[in-house]
Amino acid sequence: MSSVDKPKYQINILKTDIEFGCREDQSILHGMGQAGRKGIPSGCHGGGCGVCKIKITAGTYVSGKMNRDVITEEEEASGYKLACKVEPRSDIALEVIGKMRRSYFGA
Ligand code: FES
Repeated sequence: MSSVDKPKYQINILKTDIEFGCREDQSILHGMGQAGRKGIPSGCHGGGCGVCKIKITAGTYVSGKMNRDVITEEEEASGYKLACKVEPRSDIALEVIGKMRRSYFGA
């Protein structure tokens, strides 16, 4: 099965009209880039810099190792994640915590 056949979930960024599809074998940050969307700030893509911090408010996912200097265990337990280290397992709703560039808001 090629990666193109993998299930694709809808990712919704709350308080914006931004929505994009993301496969379960790619991070939310990667899915956003592949869909040509913006909204979550993008940095190292390796779980280190913390700029892609989000709070997941709905949906299921798996997450990889994250730098404890930028996201504490307590934060992680309350739904805070790094978008470059989270792969969806259902549709996801999230809030962006990292600073968004003004241009991301569009008009
Ligand atoms: S982009 Fe650096 S932690 Fe996600």
